[in-house]
Amino acid sequence: MLDYNQNYYQQYFKNNFNEELMPGHGVEACLDWASTCFRPGRWLDVGAGPCSMFWSVTAPISIDAIALADLSRVPLDMTAELIRTRNWPPAYIQALHYLGKTEDHLNTLANAPLDIHEFNAFEKWPDVGVFDSISAFGLAGIADSISTLDTLLTEAKDHLAPGGVLFGASWVFSNTYAMKLKGRKQCLSSLAERLATHGYEDIQTTEVPLTSDDNYYGIMLFKGRA
Ligand SMILES: C[S@@+](CC[C@H](N)C(=O)[O-])C[C@H]1O[C@@H](n2cnc3c(N)ncnc32)[C@H](O)[C@@H]1O
Repeated sequence: MLDYNQNYYQQYFKNNFNEELMPGHGVEACLDWASTCFRPGRWLDVGAGPCSMFWSVTAPISIDAIALADLSRVPLDMTAELIRTRNWPPAYIQALHYLGKTEDHLNTLANAPLDIHEFNAFEKWPDVGVFDSISAFGLAGIADSISTLDTLLTEAKDHLAPGGVLFGASWVFSNTYAMKLKGRKQCLSSLAERLATHGYEDIQTTEVPLTSDDNYYGIMLFKGRA
């Protein structure tokens, strides 16, 4: 199990989607994917880590409110500080340009009301309201049993407005990386079936292969509509 401490989140922020968009790591595919999934209205980013504003480049400008959720408050406070300073890392700007947008996009979203929620997404969620978009980047792949994944999917569905969409991306561990994580299991190959079991509609899953990464075989992109 990873040690989710302050150092982890600071390193994560620095090492992911920060200095530059690195070609060949599937990020552009994630940006394209998320751009087609997001809906206007209220957005919850669950398992948010410190990277929500990176993914927000894919959101429509008509986001009414942003909510961030994670097991730890540390990365959420980091995002709140980033929103306050608007000191957007270079990769955020590159991602905006990739999508044909400008920094105005982030500066506008930074004005949206912000809520922060610290909870375990693999257990019953607290009363955080309902959302038009729920994103989960790098979270579904952490579920190491079907029942854990099921809890995430049912709780997300219960917190989606009618027609709201759950979407995201999860990195598929290579055997080497799974062993580094003490043989950790993933359930991503069951994702489409589990989404269907929980009554999601318009389900789409697709895997982007990664050939140049020792830790990951690919990225599982997914979405389902409530
Ligand atoms: C791989 S990071 C992904 C961070 C970010 N979403 C991104 O796209 O880079 C996984 C995040 O999920 C959070 N997390 C892990 N287990 C969780 C759980 N059971 N409930 C909520 N968040 C969790 C961690 O604290 C961490 O911030």
